[in-house]
Amino acid sequence: MTHYMTQSGNNRALWLSFLAAILISAIYGLVVFWTKAIPPAGALFGHLLGILGFILMLLTEVLYSIRKRSNSARWGSMASWLQFHIFTGLVGPYMVLLHSSWKFNGLAGATTLLTILIVISGFIGRYIFTQIPRTLDGVEIATPSGQVQAAALARARRLMAAWHLIHIPIGMALFTAAFIHIGAALYYATLMR
Ligand code: HEM
Ligand code: HEM
Repeated sequence: MTHYMTQSGNNRALWLSFLAAILISAIYGLVVFWTKAIPPAGALFGHLLGILGFILMLLTEVLYSIRKRSNSARWGSMASWLQFHIFTGLVGPYMVLLHSSWKFNGLAGATTLLTILIVISGFIGRYIFTQIPRTLDGVEIATPSGQVQAAALARARRLMAAWHLIHIPIGMALFTAAFIHIGAALYYATLMR
């Protein structure tokens, strides 16, 4: 049975991310209230936000790609892995943003900018993605019915391919910058203190 990818299934990831962001904001608010200061990036809470957020971002980068390239359907549908991709791809960046302590100097600032860019490009990709008919499992339907639909579909597929050429390199630049930031931050701000 074939179906168009339903918006409702996809929106669940957005709602869950929104709830997680509210919960994290509440904890962040409590810490600000208790300490009467913005949590510094290199102190316990700020550090924790950076590390957990970064782990979520790493999962975003690798898990969906691995599932996409594996032929075994045993580990859940592609559609649910994409939902998980979107959840970790939103919550991770949000935690990292709170980790920044609202200072965006130098390489760490550039890493934050790349993080914001990948999230924005993710939303654009998600929109194009929903224009391509898929099975409930999230796999593309190869043969469209009807001439008009075929042309629209070919266009959506070309757009999606072009979009990959943006989303993926941003991710690579982002992780390169992040690893240098982490190395430098740990060396100068943690070990040398
Ligand atoms: C993509 C992930 C990350 C981004 C975008 C990011 C971004 C930032 C930003 C914007 C700052 C503030 C820089 C400033 O003071 O001007 C910062 C500071 C810091 N970050 Fe990250 N960070 C990330 C991940 C991490 C991780 C995983 C760690 C630790 C393992 C870490 C450790 C630190 C430390 C220790 C500081 C404080 C440096 C200092 O006090 O001078 N960051 N980060
Ligand atoms: C830390 C943030 C993110 C990173 C590092 C990231 C990374 C990636 C990577 C590496 C791929 C390629 C997967 C592949 O074809 O092998 C991908 C695909 C995709 N991402 Fe993200 N992403 C992030 C956030 C997001 C967000 C927030 C959204 C949506 C709101 C999103 C939507 C998508 C979509 C729709 C695809 C294409 C799926 C496909 O063609 O099969 N991403 N992402």
